[in-house]
Amino acid sequence: MDKLKIRGGRSLKGEVLISGAKNAALPEMCAALLTAEPVHLHNVPRLHDVATMRKLLANMGVQTETHGERGGMSFVAPDSLTPEAPYELVKTMRASVLALGPLLARFGRAKVSLPGGCAIGSRPVDQHIKGLQAMGAVITVENGYMHASLPAGWTRLKGARITTDMVTVTGTENFLMAAALADGETVLENAAMEPEIPDLAEMLIKMGAKITGHGTSRIVIQGVERLHGCTHDVVADRIEAGTFLCAVAATGGEALLHHARADHLGAVIDKLKDAGVTVESVAGGLKVSSNGKLKAQSFRTTEYPGFPTDMQAQFMALNLVGEGGSVVTETIFENRFMHVNEMRRLGAQISTDGRVASIEGGKRLTGAAVMATDLRASASLVIAGLVAEGETLVDRIYHLDRGYDRMEEKLRGLGADIERVSE
Ligand code: EPZ
Repeated sequence: MDKLKIRGGRSLKGEVLISGAKNAALPEMCAALLTAEPVHLHNVPRLHDVATMRKLLANMGVQTETHGERGGMSFVAPDSLTPEAPYELVKTMRASVLALGPLLARFGRAKVSLPGGCAIGSRPVDQHIKGLQAMGAVITVENGYMHASLPAGWTRLKGARITTDMVTVTGTENFLMAAALADGETVLENAAMEPEIPDLAEMLIKMGAKITGHGTSRIVIQGVERLHGCTHDVVADRIEAGTFLCAVAATGGEALLHHARADHLGAVIDKLKDAGVTVESVAGGLKVSSNGKLKAQSFRTTEYPGFPTDMQAQFMALNLVGEGGSVVTETIFENRFMHVNEMRRLGAQISTDGRVASIEGGKRLTGAAVMATDLRASASLVIAGLVAEGETLVDRIYHLDRGYDRMEEKLRGLGADIERVSE
């Protein structure tokens, strides 16, 4: 099992390339199911989750191939494909549920395994089912699978008005893809606004879909009979960019993050500036610098454009370095503080009460062996290890590889003393 060995104490300096967004690439790979024509994606990040999604699509009969250095990946989803997503693959990646909407919309049926729970919470898919049922889908759950079909005599889903019990990112994405081929108008009344949604919508529009309002909480889709192929660039990963902003700031360095977009990171950049970090938009990216003297910042995670839950662990690592106390409230997931126990092993002083964590900043951090528990927790332990005195060994970094494209190479390029060791 791979580990990351980090010797802390170095300031990160230099330039880094931000890759395509995991949470845009995954739905956009599923969007290729909506047409039999070739779909070409560029700037696809090299991630374990992308490899898993590719395997899932190939398992159905989708032809896929990668090409060129710019993260090119092409897809052809033939009429003859098998609209099924098996448990063996779905259990390793919850985002597999994103196949449900497009398969149902194009083939009128789908058999998709229920995702297991995951480390950060139960993460049910009841809202996905509710929304697709509103469009006429007949969905039964048995033997751990969702069996979806259309009512007798129907050849397409029907447009509907969908209001979910809570804002759901992949739910919104499933509904967008299903509604694109439905008969009539669909209105998503409390759609997610994360930047990956408009990016998916723009791709669907290139395929011939009729969508307005994407990026706001109310999206309107006029269904069409057929969609055609397209070429689309995956939007830059705002969470990878935010992770590097925190890493550079925590180590008191300065760097240029190519392709990072300030307009996708407003809440995080505001908090970084309050902490005493300089962040400015420059041609084609973001410049970040800090003298290492930071003020810890309290924050609460909320849906976009609020502070993203996917940045909570990384900013908590920054708060370990910042002077003063801070309170972090996690409102999206019920169990997203698993990095706290591991941070304590490095000397952090954090107390938690349910979804609220109180951090005493400015404590001396010393290197230790720690264990990654989920994707963003792993990133926060790397950041803490970059600051801690001595050697930190981060175990189970397969979690990190799910969502970060060659993180240790990029950090080494910024001067970090970090290497991947297999033990
Ligand atoms: C997406 O997950 C992201 N994943 C997550 O990123 C991210 O943390 C999350 O959105 C919130 O921003 C991808 O885009 C692939 P939700 P998703 O549906 O869509 C509850 C990462 O680190 N809910 O917006 O699964 C749910 O339990 C990952 O890159 C239901 O109860 O999240 C959660 O409490 C982690 N029933 C809340 O809603 C449902 O049917 C928001 O979940 C759907 C969601």
